Amino acid sequence: MTVDPFAKGGLHQAEAILKAHGVDAYFRSMAARTGDSHAVIDGRKVMLAGSNDYLGLSTHPAVIEAAVNAARRLGTSAGGSRALSGTLDLHGELEERIAAFLGQEAAVVTTTGFQANLALSALLGRSDIAFLDARVHASLLEAARLGWGRVRRYRHLDTAHLRELLAAAPDDAGRLVVTDGMFSMDGDVADLRALRDAADDFGAKLIVDAAHDMGVLGNRGAGLAEHCEVEDGLDLITATFSKAFASIGGVLAGPAGNVHYLRSNARSILFSAALPPASAAAALAALTVVETEPERRTRTLDLAEGLHNGLRTLGFDTRPSTTPIVPVRFADLAAGGAFWAALFRAGVFTNLVAAPAIPGGGAMLRLTLTANHDETHLATVLEAFDTAGRRLGVPRGPDLPPVRLTRGDGRRAGRR
Ligand SMILES: Cc1ncc(COP(=O)(O)O)c(C=O)c1O
Repeated sequence: MTVDPFAKGGLHQAEAILKAHGVDAYFRSMAARTGDSHAVIDGRKVMLAGSNDYLGLSTHPAVIEAAVNAARRLGTSAGGSRALSGTLDLHGELEERIAAFLGQEAAVVTTTGFQANLALSALLGRSDIAFLDARVHASLLEAARLGWGRVRRYRHLDTAHLRELLAAAPDDAGRLVVTDGMFSMDGDVADLRALRDAADDFGAKLIVDAAHDMGVLGNRGAGLAEHCEVEDGLDLITATFSKAFASIGGVLAGPAGNVHYLRSNARSILFSAALPPASAAAALAALTVVETEPERRTRTLDLAEGLHNGLRTLGFDTRPSTTPIVPVRFADLAAGGAFWAALFRAGVFTNLVAAPAIPGGGAMLRLTLTANHDETHLATVLEAFDTAGRRLGVPRGPDLPPVRLTRGDGRRAGRR
């Protein structure tokens, strides 16, 4: 029997299944984008209701201008890796400002968030163990696999299970606990205080990926660590500028010793070209907007609350999310695909997610609204769900109480 290394399932297989049902959900190309988070696909204007541009900054005039000016001033490429000829003043400025913003001593900027996470592999020597939440982002799992050490996965959000695994580790093992802050698919959040306590009790380091919460959660927008008031207690924060910060690029922030160790040892930093000037400048300008226009964050959160509660009223189950990532699950890919197509026909472009991005089979529509949307856009999405649900059937969940959003303005989940 010959085995084809190019045919192993994953998204490739999902695409084939969907195409057999006449659904074309992946790699759809956009000819134009507008300032109200819409795009032109196949000559038709559709609303982007699945973008990670949470604050709508990718079309903010100051962010665009910063990127354009930097390209004019410094060219289109950094011209090399950070350690050799690719470090720019802009990188240093971004590192200083993002470290301060995240309440950390130091930061190093990388070329993507994926590479920031891959850098963690440099922490895993042969006798070390990485303890990962079962649903961490693929890049964190990849980092753990790349390192020399062993990988243990604790049940999603289950600190008691983490404690069991930590207790069973040999005394001479270095221990790294690694979690997403706001989980990228289900939109639920880690209990960083409980994780900090567990890590402390077993002498472990705690690393949190703030890719989705930086800019979105917390009073200042500094993320889940700010919301949970554990900024001082983390051994490392990893994050990306590709989501709320409307650019590309990653960051590792934390105590200076930890950051400098990784800057000089991580292969994903040493052996890759540095972040281009336009991307660094866009991230810096986005940071200024995050700091000076908090109303954007409020709007994103208000729209998210409206979306959760509107969908729940229509009978759709958006659990376990308490954030602007709004998931709606379907029993199988064909059902999810049919719903995705109905929404697309109605002019609403959502993210159709299948294995391996979500565990346990089935499919999910992952929705987000940005600060560039408004109440009318929210109403359009809800109407499209209502119409599609009447035709295709609502994957009816139980009657759910209004969602309590994780925010950061003192109105903590469960405490309102
Ligand atoms: C939780 C999480 N971490 C890291 C990344 C990687 O970020 P980037 O897009 O900058 O490579 C992503 C993006 O998909 C993510 O969702």
